[in-house]
Amino acid sequence: MSQQANPAEVYEDFAVRYQFRPFTEDLVERAAPRPGERVLDLACGTGIVARIIAAHIVPNGSVTGLDVSPAMLAVARGRAEAEGIAATWDQGDAAALPYAAGAFDLALCQQGLQYFPDKPAALRELHRVLAPGGRTLVSTWASLDRSPVVAAYNRVAARRLGLAPAAVPFSLTDAGEVRGLLAGAGFTAVEVTAVALTIRYPDLGEFVRRTVQAVAAVVPALATLPLEEVAATARGIEEELVPQVRPYLDGTALRCPMQTHIAVARR
Ligand SMILES: C[S@@+](CC[C@H](N)C(=O)[O-])C[C@H]1O[C@@H](n2cnc3c(N)ncnc32)[C@H](O)[C@@H]1O
Repeated sequence: MSQQANPAEVYEDFAVRYQFRPFTEDLVERAAPRPGERVLDLACGTGIVARIIAAHIVPNGSVTGLDVSPAMLAVARGRAEAEGIAATWDQGDAAALPYAAGAFDLALCQQGLQYFPDKPAALRELHRVLAPGGRTLVSTWASLDRSPVVAAYNRVAARRLGLAPAAVPFSLTDAGEVRGLLAGAGFTAVEVTAVALTIRYPDLGEFVRRTVQAVAAVVPALATLPLEEVAATARGIEEELVPQVRPYLDGTALRCPMQTHIAVARR
């Protein structure tokens, strides 16, 4: 197995391609962006939300992606350029946004809030940078049992890798908590909706290899393992996972039901 050097490229070419893009399309439809709007993609990662929304706000709108990770931003910039998309990409922390009060009409944060160490501070910042009447959409995964394939993978990988890959992504699964955080930051008309999609990975083996690669790339103890050992770990996880996810297999393809919460609120 060849290990890609750059986890941000793996994120874009695998996680975004199969998992985040379908959720982004749903999120953008709900956001109903209009021509001329100034849009912020908070915790933009490789910029999938910004890149999809860009077509909706032309001719006079603008789209800005902010992320703490320079590596993610480098991929965002490169992909946007290759796709002919004009956007601004800024490095920064959600808890201290480098923007003036009221700078945006619409702010989206897809699967980012759960990662922020200081969520109330980040949401106060989000509230500050929205214009009065502006709207925000914030998505965070619902509880892991609503994403049964991910839950099964998480159990097997946790035992074999020594860490649970879903622990942080699925750490803010309570809709009431999300609602409370937004209301606490001053947002009004807060509504949280559960959205379920079944995404499709063309190949279970690739799903396991890519996710193990992604984990191995960021965990120091695993990053130093020889590639053959990472590959052997992935094969072991796959063997153990197959019987558990058999109902979701379609040949070698994997159907993966997932559920997210989407909070919509106004400034
Ligand atoms: C699961 S990714 C989601 C990325 C993107 N929104 C998407 O839909 O593909 C979470 C992102 O949150 C970013 N992040 C984590 N903590 C952050 C912080 N304090 N400020 C800004 N971004 C942060 C990470 O760098 C990562 O790109």
